[in-house]
Amino acid sequence: MTIPAKPSNVQWTDVQWKAIYASGQDILVSAAAGSGKTAVLIERLIQKILASEEKRIDVDELLVVTFTNASAAEMRNRMAEALEKAIGQDPGNSFLRRQLSLLNKAQISTLHSFCLSICREYAYTIDLDPGFRLASIEEASLLQDDVMMDILEKAYRGDMETLFTKEELYTLVDSFASDRSDQAIEHLLQEMYKVSRVQPNPYEWLRALPEKYDIDPNSPIDDLAIAQEVRPFIIASLKEAAARLEKGLQIIMGVPALEKNKPLFEAEYSAVKQVLYAMEESSWEQAYILIPAIEFGRIKPLTKKDTEEDRQSYAVAKDHRDSAKDMLNTLKDTFFARHPKLYVQEMSATKPILETLVKLTIEYSEAFKQAKQERGLLDFSDLEHFALEILCDSGSDTIPPQPSDVALGFQKRFKEVLVDEYQDVNFLQETILQLVKSGGEQDGNMFMVGDVKQSIVRP
Ligand SMILES: Nc1ncnc2c1ncn2[C@@H]1O[C@H](COP(=O)(O)OP(=O)(O)OP(=O)(O)O)[C@@H](O)[C@H]1O
Ligand SMILES: [Mg+2]
Repeated sequence: MTIPAKPSNVQWTDVQWKAIYASGQDILVSAAAGSGKTAVLIERLIQKILASEEKRIDVDELLVVTFTNASAAEMRNRMAEALEKAIGQDPGNSFLRRQLSLLNKAQISTLHSFCLSICREYAYTIDLDPGFRLASIEEASLLQDDVMMDILEKAYRGDMETLFTKEELYTLVDSFASDRSDQAIEHLLQEMYKVSRVQPNPYEWLRALPEKYDIDPNSPIDDLAIAQEVRPFIIASLKEAAARLEKGLQIIMGVPALEKNKPLFEAEYSAVKQVLYAMEESSWEQAYILIPAIEFGRIKPLTKKDTEEDRQSYAVAKDHRDSAKDMLNTLKDTFFARHPKLYVQEMSATKPILETLVKLTIEYSEAFKQAKQERGLLDFSDLEHFALEILCDSGSDTIPPQPSDVALGFQKRFKEVLVDEYQDVNFLQETILQLVKSGGEQDGNMFMVGDVKQSIVRP
């Protein structure tokens, strides 16, 4: 990987400069808000076109995914400016002139616009009427509300008895709503629908959910897959709390004015260590038995005659202890609020409820799909799902899916895929991107920038 030397008169930081020219493998640049990620992505685009003859690529060989239409327009403008400047310095350069004229055809857009163009152009390859109209968010949401009312009415009426009994339906409603109001269940259905729609295969994902709760109500909690998933969080939290108490202890040790609190800190530290040990070496149940021993008693205050220095140390030690206390209280309120046996029983009882919920969600999805079909409407999520269908080889059911001929065409065309705001790309969108990009991670055809901390949707 060769990166040109950075001239002294450019604005870019060393890290930005590296990101602009890096090659040889897929790159994810994660940096804070406003740190210049988009600026780096645009500069990289420009440099791809201004590169030497053997390295440069045509603008229409790039797939650029932006977060908004406005930022797509800005990128085009910035690229046009850079090209015009380069042409000004080298008026006879026909390659550059051609790039300027190709810019309109370049695939720089939001992922939805890209999917829309795929759906329009290749509708004939799947069972999709190319005359569809794109529903606005408001329109789709109104239609969704209608369908929701309709579906719940049918369910209550008993029209879905082949799927679940009325008792099963009421058990579901009662577990989520305190007063049998429909709002809670509507919200739940809507959320389930939303989360399922960002999976490449929503129904498969939904149907697999209840299996996670296929639990013998008498098995020890430590044997459950779900428990094994949360265990590392509990352990990390206990370790952190112990470390805070230890720090507090180090501060008060040897300071006469503060040492009166030493027994308190020591007792707390040792109780936390015991719970941690139980969780790591013994069992969740043992940790549950030991956790009430962690009691945060009253810390002895300072007296008037203590010095300013003592006061400061006292405040720092107390801060450490307070944060340990917060962490432990959270644990007590969540994973240790009840006997682990009860958790297992509850989870095991969840399975049939979840089964009803999944069936109802699928009914709702189907009804919404049909309502859209009757009106010739597609919503934003449909664009992605139909685009995915077009890009997948219809005979293949592998993960990741095999590319269709249309996808192979894109793979041949796009030399590099660049994605802005990558933290908001969900699993379905990632699958689409993987299908249109060529090569693997080692080929370095993908460049992503994002701020992982700003993530808003990725479930
Ligand atoms: N090295 C730099 N020196 C001076 N200005 C810079 C530098 N890098 C970026 N900028 C400027 O900082 C501003 C913010 O940059 P940019 O929009 O690219 O950030 P971002 O990381 O994409 O932000 P966001 O997280 O909001 O998407 C822009 O005006 C950009 O031109
Ligand atoms: Mg940005």
